Amino acid sequence: MDDLREKYLKAISGAADEAALEDLRVAAVGKKGEVSLQMRELGRMTPEERQVAGPKLNALKDEINSALSAKKAALEDAALDERLRGEWLDVTLPGRDRRLGTVHPVSQVTEEVSAILADMGFAVAEGPQVEDDWHNFDALNIPSHHPARTEMDTFYMARGEGDNRPPHVLRTHTSPVQIRTMQAQGAPLRVIAPGRVYRADYDQTHTPMFHQVEGLAVDKDISMANLKWVLEEFFSAFFGTSVKTRFRASHFPFTEPSAEVDIQCSWEGGTVKVGEGDGWLEVLGSGMVHPKVLEAGGIDPVEWQGFAFGMGIDRMAMLKYGIPDLRAFFDSDLRWLRHYGFSSLAVPTLHGGL
Ligand code: PHE
Repeated sequence: MDDLREKYLKAISGAADEAALEDLRVAAVGKKGEVSLQMRELGRMTPEERQVAGPKLNALKDEINSALSAKKAALEDAALDERLRGEWLDVTLPGRDRRLGTVHPVSQVTEEVSAILADMGFAVAEGPQVEDDWHNFDALNIPSHHPARTEMDTFYMARGEGDNRPPHVLRTHTSPVQIRTMQAQGAPLRVIAPGRVYRADYDQTHTPMFHQVEGLAVDKDISMANLKWVLEEFFSAFFGTSVKTRFRASHFPFTEPSAEVDIQCSWEGGTVKVGEGDGWLEVLGSGMVHPKVLEAGGIDPVEWQGFAFGMGIDRMAMLKYGIPDLRAFFDSDLRWLRHYGFSSLAVPTLHGGL
């Protein structure tokens, strides 16, 4: 018994980890452990022998068990100390500076435009960028073979082999959202639809993907005068200075009459300044919604009229923030984004200034 005590107490105190400790427990006091086997021997002893050996064995078993749990607690403490040493953190160190991302000028200007027009009662509407040819063309009074279809340098989606339906297109303008909104909401309505549009064109002022914002107001007594007022209010708020507009007679299949709108600007030393001088810059197309377009949208053109306009958002960003080349907008060059981008905290609001 003394040998067993010495053997196990020594081994327990030297155990390296909990697994080794468990092996020792099984070897000593497990079902078939050495101490347990000794206890089984008690049955074969005389009552006198048993009276001496029994308590001793029990004491040995208790001693080994408490050595095991003391060692187990010690090992756990040591492991925790080790972990705390590894995970130690100096909370007094200064924080590490991280560069914040910036808001792209197109996103910023979209927010600005929406804030101004929302204040005038326009809700924001959306439509798909992959559009069917009916919404992009036919419903807007641009039948097949109309020259406007080819003039727009449309991107066509592919149809499956043997599928002869007309292909979907990447929308060439935001005007199809006019149709979708009229169908969904009926008259009266007042919406803007900002978003991406696509045309196969690429130079300093054209990229194959760019952004427009559509405006549409339908009511019982809407006229070109309302259109002109809304646009002048809009440009003055957007550029932060009173801006004159000039309407030039034009043609779009989906408006009648139609007008291209110029804003007042000066061209001095090669830079454009909006709201001063006696120069003009074309910025959007507009007009009174064509009766056929109202009909396609499910609105009775005898009872209702409306105005519509479509404006380039990227163009507005270039003008307002003096950005010279449109192509750089979509190059994802970090230096450009840091230079022309906006702080994510500078959310444009009417009261905060745009
Ligand atoms: N959809 C026209 C374009 O992309 C712009 C426009 C919109 C003109 C609404 C008139 C009315 O050029």
